Amino acid sequence: MEYFSTTSKLSQRATDCLIVGVYSKSVLSIAAAEINLATKGEIKRLLKSGDASGHLGHTLVLQQPSGVKAKRIVVVGLGKQAKFDVVALRKALAAALGAVAKTKCRALLVGLTQEPGITPYYAARATAETVHDVLYNFTEMKSAHKKPRMPLAKIGLANTERSHAKHAMLGAEHGEAIALGMSLAKNLGNQPPNVCTPSHLARTAQKLARENARVSTRVLNEAEMKRLGMGSLLSVTAGAAEPAKFIIMEYKGAGKSAPVVLVGKGVTFDTGGTSLKPGAAMDEMKYDMCGAASVIGTIAAVAALKLPINLNVVVPAVVNMPGGSATVPGDIVKSMSGQTIEILNTDAEGRLILCDALTYARRFKPAAIIDVATLTGACVIALGKYHAGLMSNDDELADSILAAGLRASDRAWRLPMGDDYASQLKSNFADMANIGGRDAGTITAACFLGKFTTDMVWAHLDIAGVAWLTGAKKGATGRPVPLLTEILLARAGVLPA
Ligand code: BES
Ligand code: MN
Ligand code: ZN
Repeated sequence: MEYFSTTSKLSQRATDCLIVGVYSKSVLSIAAAEINLATKGEIKRLLKSGDASGHLGHTLVLQQPSGVKAKRIVVVGLGKQAKFDVVALRKALAAALGAVAKTKCRALLVGLTQEPGITPYYAARATAETVHDVLYNFTEMKSAHKKPRMPLAKIGLANTERSHAKHAMLGAEHGEAIALGMSLAKNLGNQPPNVCTPSHLARTAQKLARENARVSTRVLNEAEMKRLGMGSLLSVTAGAAEPAKFIIMEYKGAGKSAPVVLVGKGVTFDTGGTSLKPGAAMDEMKYDMCGAASVIGTIAAVAALKLPINLNVVVPAVVNMPGGSATVPGDIVKSMSGQTIEILNTDAEGRLILCDALTYARRFKPAAIIDVATLTGACVIALGKYHAGLMSNDDELADSILAAGLRASDRAWRLPMGDDYASQLKSNFADMANIGGRDAGTITAACFLGKFTTDMVWAHLDIAGVAWLTGAKKGATGRPVPLLTEILLARAGVLPA
C-alpha cells in the first residue's frame, strides 16, 4: 500500500473515495467543514435531514458530489468530540470502509487523521491497521464465491501541518508492518487444524528465516526435546499422532545486547486430552495456537521494520489428544527445570508446554521474557474479549506493557499474583499440581508459570478472550501483535516523542 500525507484542500484532490467525519450534536470535523463549504452547505443539510449523523460509526455515501473532485464521499459519525481518540478513529474508519467495501476504489483519502485528540503518527498507524483489518478475509479453503477485495492501492492522510508528514509516514510504515504480522497471525489461526499442525508452524517459521537475513530458525524434534528433559511438554503430545515441534527463532538487529524473548503457546488443537472437553464449540480449539501465531507475527513485523533490537521467539507446538498412550490424571512428570508436576487435569496443557519453553529460554539471558497464551477459559469470563489478562513478577515491565496496550489500541489489564494464589497449586505427591481449582483460574495458571521464571523479568499475557471472535465475525483477530510490536518499538526507541 502506498501512503502520502496532504495538507491541501481535500475538495480539490481527485480520489475514488474521501472520508470525512462529523461529531455528535452536528459538530463538523476539519474535513467536514471544508467539504460543507465546497458543497455549499450539503453536509449541514444532510445532518439536519438525519441522513448523516454524528453517531459513532454511522455512515452515508454521497455519489459524485458537486464542488468536490472525489468520486464519492463517506460521511461517518465520530461520536462525541470530547471523547474522540484513536479507538474512535478506528471504529469510524472501519465503518466508513465497510460502506464502500464492495466498490472498486483504488485511491482513498482519509480526512479523519488531522483531528485534535489524536497524533499524526498513531492516526496514520491506526489507518493502516484498520484498512488491512477490514480488507482481510480468509478464503483459502473456499472453492468458489471468493469475495473480491476492494483493490485499494493508495491512501492519502489529511494533516493540518506539513511538519506532520514525517510522523504520519512513519506511522503508516509501522502500521503496514503490524498489519503484515497480524495477517500472518490471523491466517495461522484461521487455518483448519488438519492444516495448521506443529509441523506447519515450524515450516512457517523456517520460511520467515529464508525471507529475512536477520532471522534464523531452529526446530527441535521430540527426541531432542527428550534429551533436554522436557518431560512436561512431552506429556502433552503423548496421545497425538502428529509430531510435536519446538521452534526457536532469533532476530538479530542490535549486536550483543540482551534480547527480549517472546514465548507463544502453540497447541494446534486442544481436545483436552484424557480430560476431554465437552463437544460444544470444540472446533474453536484450533485457535489454541494463537499465542504462537502472535509471536511469529510479531517477529515478522520486527523483521520488516529492521528494528535495532534483539528478539527471540520460542514456540512449543503440540496437539493435545486423548488415546491409548495419552497422559492420564494422576500422572507425574518431570519438567526441564527439574521440578515435578502432578497432572490432575490433562486439559490444563498450555502451562505444561510453556513451563519447559520458559526454562529453555533462560539460555538467552533475556532482558525481559513475555509469554503469550490462550491459557484459561476463566480469563474470558473475567475480562471478555476486550482486555488481555496481564500477570507479571515485575512492576516496571507490567506498567510498560499496560501503557503500550493503550497506545496501540490493544489493551491488557493486570491481575494480581502472589503466594496465596500459588498455594492453590500444592500437591501431596509432586512439587506442584497443574491445576489450582476453580477460584482465580487465570491467576493460578500464571502462578504455575511463575515457578519457572524466577530471577527473570517476566510477564504473562492470557489472550484466551482476545485472540479470536465468535459469531458472525468468527475468526482470528491478530491480537496481540499490535501490543507486542508496540512494546518492541518503544524498546527500540523509534517511536516519535
Ligand atoms: N485452551 C484452553 C483455554 C481456553 C478455553 C481458551 C476456552 C479459550 C476458550 C486451555 O488449555 C484449557 O483447557 N484450560 C482449562 C484449564 C483448567 C482445566 C484448569 C480451562 O480454562 O478450563
Ligand atoms: Mn486445555
Ligand atoms: Zn489449551
